[in-house]
Amino acid sequence: MIVYNEDARTLTLFTPHTCYQMKVDGEGRLLHTWYGRRPAAADMCPDFYEARAPHQDPGCWPDLLPLEYAAPGVGDNRIPACVPEYADGTQAADLRFAGYAVYPGKYALPGLPAFRASEQAQSLRVTLRDAGGLSVELWYAVYDDCDVITRAAVLTNAGERPLTLRQAASLCLDFPGVPLDFITMDGVWAGERTPARAPLRPGEQTIGSTKGIPGHGHSPAAILCAPDATETHGECWAAAFVYSGSFELSAERCEAGARLVCGIHPYHFAWTLEPGASFAAPETALVYSDAGLGEMSRRFHRAIRAHLLPPAWADAARPRPVLINSWEAFYFDFDEARLLELARAARSAGIDLFVLDDGWFAGREDDTTSLGDWVADRRKLPDGVPGLCERLNAMGMEFGIWVEPEAVSPNSALYRAHPDWALRIPGRDAFEIRHQYTLDFSRPEVVDGIWEQLDGLLSSCPIRYLKWDMNRSLATVYSAALPAARQGEVYHRYTLGVYELQRRLTEAYPDLLLENCAGGGARFDCGMLYYSPQIWCSDNTDACARTNIQYGTSLIYPYETMGAHFSTVPNHCTGHVTSRQARMALALSGTFGFELDLTKYSEEQLAQLRPDIEWYRAHGAMLRGGELYRLLLPDEKGTGAAWCIVAPDAGEAAVFCVGSALAGRGERCPCLVLRGLDENAVYEDEDGARWTGFLLQTLGLPLPGAFGQMPARRWYLRRVEPEAAR
Ligand code: DGJ
Repeated sequence: MIVYNEDARTLTLFTPHTCYQMKVDGEGRLLHTWYGRRPAAADMCPDFYEARAPHQDPGCWPDLLPLEYAAPGVGDNRIPACVPEYADGTQAADLRFAGYAVYPGKYALPGLPAFRASEQAQSLRVTLRDAGGLSVELWYAVYDDCDVITRAAVLTNAGERPLTLRQAASLCLDFPGVPLDFITMDGVWAGERTPARAPLRPGEQTIGSTKGIPGHGHSPAAILCAPDATETHGECWAAAFVYSGSFELSAERCEAGARLVCGIHPYHFAWTLEPGASFAAPETALVYSDAGLGEMSRRFHRAIRAHLLPPAWADAARPRPVLINSWEAFYFDFDEARLLELARAARSAGIDLFVLDDGWFAGREDDTTSLGDWVADRRKLPDGVPGLCERLNAMGMEFGIWVEPEAVSPNSALYRAHPDWALRIPGRDAFEIRHQYTLDFSRPEVVDGIWEQLDGLLSSCPIRYLKWDMNRSLATVYSAALPAARQGEVYHRYTLGVYELQRRLTEAYPDLLLENCAGGGARFDCGMLYYSPQIWCSDNTDACARTNIQYGTSLIYPYETMGAHFSTVPNHCTGHVTSRQARMALALSGTFGFELDLTKYSEEQLAQLRPDIEWYRAHGAMLRGGELYRLLLPDEKGTGAAWCIVAPDAGEAAVFCVGSALAGRGERCPCLVLRGLDENAVYEDEDGARWTGFLLQTLGLPLPGAFGQMPARRWYLRRVEPEAAR
């Protein structure tokens, strides 16, 4: 619900549990006055600024005002949300309120992923104008069924001379001067999205990427929270950028309080707007929770599921195939006979879908060649991709395949035919990373060329799943198709090209299960989740490392979107040996697949996998649609944690406990206190043991204790008739 109060000149947005308010002050500036808990009755909502005003007198200092969308040059010296540069060289905008409108449904951002249109949504457009010519439309959407508020900004040159945007953010959020912690999800290859939390210090703290993709270093999302906020208590504000390119997310503690700004990274960004032209800054989604980080995450998960994921895959009840991926089994070393042998073993364990990873195309024996030539290597696949697909289908296996559409090897037919299609600065060599260049996806003809190849591949046989990989960051960024003055547009246009190709793919093949990937989890963001309901979370499949990675990822992203595979031990990435149960627990708490050489498994070992696969089939809908409660956070070494997934009606739950958490945290008879259950109900586990929800949420579930390398245990609990409670 969106309410304008004419007397107070406030605009207030209500979600079921939160409230967001702006106010037009006497000078026509748009102030940000509140984002937090909502009063039970909307008409009881105060003018938060007036309520605070007697204690705050910013006088004539714009630096001290809470501004809804800040620009430089006119007295606010904090991080700006946008930086326009006018033809005379000035970088300034004095943005004043020029009107608002409320619309049913969700605003659209053509060409960009965004939370989806919905009857549940209502949108607000607020227009701000600068006398120099910049006009800003701030867009907001609230969904009545969940606690997310989305924001976007459309910047228009309403003047008569060209202007250039040097910075464009969709989010600018000011906070009063209370202490706050800043949480980011940082990492490295094979260690993505590990939460880092520290008090917000005076000055700017910034995360971001200039790589053209978000990268392994930082997820394009962040949280500000009260210093005492925990999983179950305290105020938190989370922002997730719906974007998959270079980004900047900055928090600044300043005299007036704090500011959070999220937008496209200003490095190498310059977007010229001719008179009348507009630029849309990608959307940011916001969640507030006054009940700790756990509830904040669940609000994000619900919103992403209901309003961001591809609708074809959003229904948790739609079965997802259990897949086997060939990468860690064979890397580049395979032929069709080996693939079929792996598929046979996988099928006998009950696996549904075979994914042929890297190495299947035109002379690709290692990572030095052939990217861009998406035709089968006949030495490995004598009857091409359709031949392999047919044989797999004949054994009851569905088929999926790996591609890296944005890449081109110097040694490839595509590069020989179109050397100018690679990003390259004139007069310099294109920069090789992993022996490959990046295609200039800012050019429509390049996107068209790759589309034709992929369309040919996907229409050649029933391909049910596509893994889209991207194994490097951009470098030597320059487009041969744009004039010098527009080179600052290339990074963003590149990202738009990636979105365009993913749009075409998913529209032309609506049943295709697309999994994004970027050298592990370097492009795990809300932009990608718009096209693909799952993203490869990390190349590190070690259960111990995954405990941390999946925990950090779950702060914002639903756990069932995390590509997670059961793999072999010693782990290929870490050399660690972890228990079979721990590897299962982590895979089951993600997309659940397999990635190991099952041809080395005996009949008996293969048969042992069956019950886990059947367990996933039986409880998959609950696992994909349930609410996540993080019960014990990973300890410092990442060796232990516990979590549960509870059906929205609390009728069933899956509980996972791994590593040292299984021995409790030092108690003699350890118990695991659960959350999210119905305290008045009785639950039964798979062995017939029964407890009341009250007991499980007070004393807790008795833990069996465990030994060995990263032990693990899981339970499935089901609500039963109460009379038989113990
Ligand atoms: C990086 C991915 O993360 C891996 O899963 C695998 O697909 C390789 N690329 C293949 O080159």
